[in-house]
Amino acid sequence: MPGIPLRNGGPAARIAVIPGDGIGAEVTPQAVKVLRAATRPARRSIEFVEFDWGADKYLREGISLPSGAVEMLRDEFDAILFGALGDPRVPSNQHAADILLGLRFKLDLYINARPVELLHDRLTPLRDRTEKDIRLMVLRENTEGLYVGVGGFFKKGTPDEIAVQEDVNSRKGVERIIRYAFEYARQNGLKRVCMSDKSNAMTFAHDLWQRVFKEVRQEYANIESRHLYIDALAMEIVREPGQFDVIVTCNLFGDIISDLGAQLAGGLGLAPSANIHPGKTSLFEPVHGSAPNIAGKGIANPLGSVLTSAMMLEFLGWRSEAAALRTAVRAALRENCVTPDLGGSKRTAEMGDWLVAKSVEALTQQH
Ligand code: NAD
Ligand code: IPM
Ligand code: MN
Repeated sequence: MPGIPLRNGGPAARIAVIPGDGIGAEVTPQAVKVLRAATRPARRSIEFVEFDWGADKYLREGISLPSGAVEMLRDEFDAILFGALGDPRVPSNQHAADILLGLRFKLDLYINARPVELLHDRLTPLRDRTEKDIRLMVLRENTEGLYVGVGGFFKKGTPDEIAVQEDVNSRKGVERIIRYAFEYARQNGLKRVCMSDKSNAMTFAHDLWQRVFKEVRQEYANIESRHLYIDALAMEIVREPGQFDVIVTCNLFGDIISDLGAQLAGGLGLAPSANIHPGKTSLFEPVHGSAPNIAGKGIANPLGSVLTSAMMLEFLGWRSEAAALRTAVRAALRENCVTPDLGGSKRTAEMGDWLVAKSVEALTQQH
């Protein structure tokens, strides 16, 4: 999917790599391998610096996001390639909140772009749907909502316990993501934007979303805009996914609908995402998590991370290289060279090697 705002478009890039936990640490090195190979022919200068932030470090040293990390990433790197965080030994998920949510919030990465794109007809669980029916962009608000960590317990551990989790929505935050949805549609020649909320029940927070949406849509007369409650959207996206081009929604609903969308397009192993602030250091990660159930087995699907890397290359302005990665992924799916989650028998690292060769071949054919 095109249309990711540029960071620099120059010939050199510095990438911070945070593989993280579980399969994050397995798929990310494959993506780095493919990125290195695909940027070599055009002599792109791409430098990777790896950071060992994750559960092991947190358990060993008590450090999640080191102090000064945000400033360093902001000032010294163009982009961050991220794997996944989450470890059964950290049931609170505190390190993931500090690192992943911390970076989203502190780098102000207010757009979480999660394309849902069917790359091969056989991958969708929907009957009679093909590639042309499943091609949409979920734009998830990424810096506020129910994720801000505002709340608390009262009388914790007693029968009278109360737990409060605040849903924080700012005028500025809602407006910029809704506006971006329309801009994304306009810049990519897409005709339809759907805003989804739960304003029938969340009568304060999503009343704000309603008012802002009504205001902003007026500036985009050529784009067909509509509203669906999130429950209805979940139903409609399964019933007839072809009716959507761009979906814009709040942080939590975007999280849920993007996993649903991922499955419509072949599963979590394939789904990419970009956490963006246009023009600033942005973070790229597959939609999936650390998958403890398959971690360490060498069978995780690296295609999500490779498609994520393609989004990162587009952000860097390196379109031919991005296209080469996409061509390689499509070839893997066409030739059924895939990991067990997609019914194949390839291992993670074998896929990486295969994709390296295919990306280089694709680049050669472009010239
Ligand atoms: P998950 O995405 O890790 O796994 C869900 C299911 O999808 C599992 O069956 C898993 O095996 C499968 N799956 C996911 N990615 C796959 C891949 N690349 N190849 C093959 N199969 C794949 O979600 P979960 O099990 O709910 O969460 C596990 C941990 O990951 C939790 O700690 C959660 O908080 C964390 N998490 C982190 C992120 C992130 O860092 N961005 C995202 C989601 C979940
Ligand atoms: C995602 C993940 C995260 C989220 C978790 C790990 C906090 O599910 O990136 O989709 O909910 O944003
Ligand atoms: Mn999620």
